[in-house]
Amino acid sequence: MTNQTNKVSMEKLESLCKRRGFIFQSSEIYGGISGFWDYGPLGCELKRNIRESWWKSMVRMRDDVVGLDASIIMHPKVWEASGHIGGFSDPMQNCKQCRKLYRADQVPEILKDSELFKSLASSFQEGREPDAETAFKWAMNKGRKLAPGLALLRQPDVQLAWLAERIEKAGGKAADPLQMLQCMATEQKDAAKPACPCPNCGGELTEPRQFNLMFKSHAGAMEDSGSVVYLRPETAQGIFVQFDNVVATSRQRVPFGIAQIGKAFRNEINPRNYTFRSREFEQMELEFFIKPGTDQEWHEYWVKERIKWYETIGLPPASITRHVYDKAELAHYASACVDVMYDFPFGTQELEGIAARGDYDLRRHQEFSGKSMEYFNQETNEKFIPHVIEPSAGVDRIALAVLCNAYREEWVPNDGGAAVAAEEGKPVPAGHELRTVMRFAPCVAPIKAAVFPLMKNKPELVTAAREVFDMLRKNWACFYDQTGAIGRRYRRQDEVGTPYCITIDFQTLEDKTVTLRERDSMKQERLPIADLMARMRQVLD
Ligand code: GAP
Repeated sequence: MTNQTNKVSMEKLESLCKRRGFIFQSSEIYGGISGFWDYGPLGCELKRNIRESWWKSMVRMRDDVVGLDASIIMHPKVWEASGHIGGFSDPMQNCKQCRKLYRADQVPEILKDSELFKSLASSFQEGREPDAETAFKWAMNKGRKLAPGLALLRQPDVQLAWLAERIEKAGGKAADPLQMLQCMATEQKDAAKPACPCPNCGGELTEPRQFNLMFKSHAGAMEDSGSVVYLRPETAQGIFVQFDNVVATSRQRVPFGIAQIGKAFRNEINPRNYTFRSREFEQMELEFFIKPGTDQEWHEYWVKERIKWYETIGLPPASITRHVYDKAELAHYASACVDVMYDFPFGTQELEGIAARGDYDLRRHQEFSGKSMEYFNQETNEKFIPHVIEPSAGVDRIALAVLCNAYREEWVPNDGGAAVAAEEGKPVPAGHELRTVMRFAPCVAPIKAAVFPLMKNKPELVTAAREVFDMLRKNWACFYDQTGAIGRRYRRQDEVGTPYCITIDFQTLEDKTVTLRERDSMKQERLPIADLMARMRQVLD
């Protein structure tokens, strides 16, 4: 495993994920639905491995954490107490021309990614300042198709005069294509505050207004205000509201934690970057309850623990960074927060947040439910509402990071030498072939081992191969493949990241040995079947 950040093209990764059955668009046959994804046969194994690794390190291997599986729909009061009904919203703008909706803080970013922006930016000659004449020409030609909503195109006479005036004031130039676009998109009456246009059509956006991100539904037959319920936007609240029951039944004593993995739903205004920001996703959350006053030490402890875990699933330390919140960024009740960030091809983005939330959540539930959330320490005869440290991670984002990190294109010499990284845009050198390989850490690889009989029309080879396959599949996700040349079978497994391939040939029938081939080095060795289980345990578990 290298310690480098892997810069894969998202287009290539998405294509592989679809082609090989990792991720599909939800409801694809009906045109798909934005912000929802399905995980195919390999994707669901990958996610399962991530969940299991997290559960093992956070629950099974610890004396001080227990699990919970709370319902997705809870009493609506839960969301009043948690502050989600009042405050779980994003600022939204919509286009007055084409009606598209945007999360206000993401408009500049989305605009810079848009076709209209890229087209305008590419119309300025390289190395030259963006100039008004080129911008006008662009607007009157390509702009008419790509950005028909621009104020300049809606009222060219007024706009042109105004633009010329502005640009003259700025010494004949507008600083960059974004400012140029803002000039062309803003009506003269609003000249004092040029705004970002709609990334879809160049039209005018409304003022930002708050939009609550919770999905609403109704419980029961009556669809009235009394039956409104919400799909949970985080799994955490299920843990807080069951705190007392878990204390009463688990014999845990503070400090201790409750962990939960489950679906969460947010009606994101702009789902984007593949599965990164979805409307339905999965969280893995721990609420670790502590004695007030011990917040800092426990927070530091959990940040370190969590960062270590990312290495165990194969993400190189160089690709993981921390974003430490300063005071102004923190919620009013929080004393600290650190985001664990991964260096995605589309930017460095959050995988997990680790927050010290004080007693905010338990205290609010005590207030709203009228039930005491105090904890009684029998040793010291003290009563207090515990404080909490919350490491909260997203399964889908981690799966995406693992996929981005694993994807490699390599040139493999035909003579069996070591592979080298393929150079983008260059032809495959003579005597080599191109392979795509997913270099997953074995613990997250969807398939751990593939078993091949050398030939499918020799019953004795097939029987021996099925026996090896049946032996291995009791412990690990395995794959049996008997079609095509062995080299092609290796390539198919490389492309889905299977760490080991085992071939059964005529020698197997004589001496009960097999060939074990390792994915990354492509090295092969001969091994007795009797030693296979022990070897696989050593390399996989
Ligand atoms: N209980 C705290 C909480 O929910 P959050 O930062 O809003 O905190 C925690 O979410 C994690 O959940 C994020 O770090 C991210 O991994 C995941 N997550 C949040 N919103 C998501 C979305 N729209 N799509 C995919 N994952 C998301």
